[in-house]
Amino acid sequence: MAIKLNHTIVAARDKDASASFLSEILGVPAPSLIGPFAVVPVSDDTSLDYISTDSQVTSQHYAFLVDEIEFDEIFARVRERRLSYWADPGRQERDQINTWDGGRGLYFEDPNGHLLEIITRSYGSGGTTTSRPHPLFAGLNPANRSI
Ligand SMILES: [Fe+2]
Repeated sequence: MAIKLNHTIVAARDKDASASFLSEILGVPAPSLIGPFAVVPVSDDTSLDYISTDSQVTSQHYAFLVDEIEFDEIFARVRERRLSYWADPGRQERDQINTWDGGRGLYFEDPNGHLLEIITRSYGSGGTTTSRPHPLFAGLNPANRSI
């Protein structure tokens, strides 16, 4: 597939603080100020472009696929900053990570309440027969169906 997400705009109360938070926690280059945006490159192809707003910020979800070393580094920064983190998007499993798809994942919030996620495996990449399938895919295996 040739299409790649190039950028998306992220609303923030303070674009500079929020963009700096993301770049520091992920370990990516510092934001660039381009027009009204604080632009954070999160990969060679994609940036998150923060813009300040006085309106209420509606929480969005941004997930980042990282490698094992990056996961260790980001997880260490999450703990150093004493951020809350969870194994699940419903934020029920606090101070835990998940091992869905045979990888690792966790959720934490940015200063605006956006729910950020890091994963080492794409959703469903572990298939439906792995010991820890992603919950979205677990029901696809007849052996995991409850009805
Ligand atoms: Fe997600």
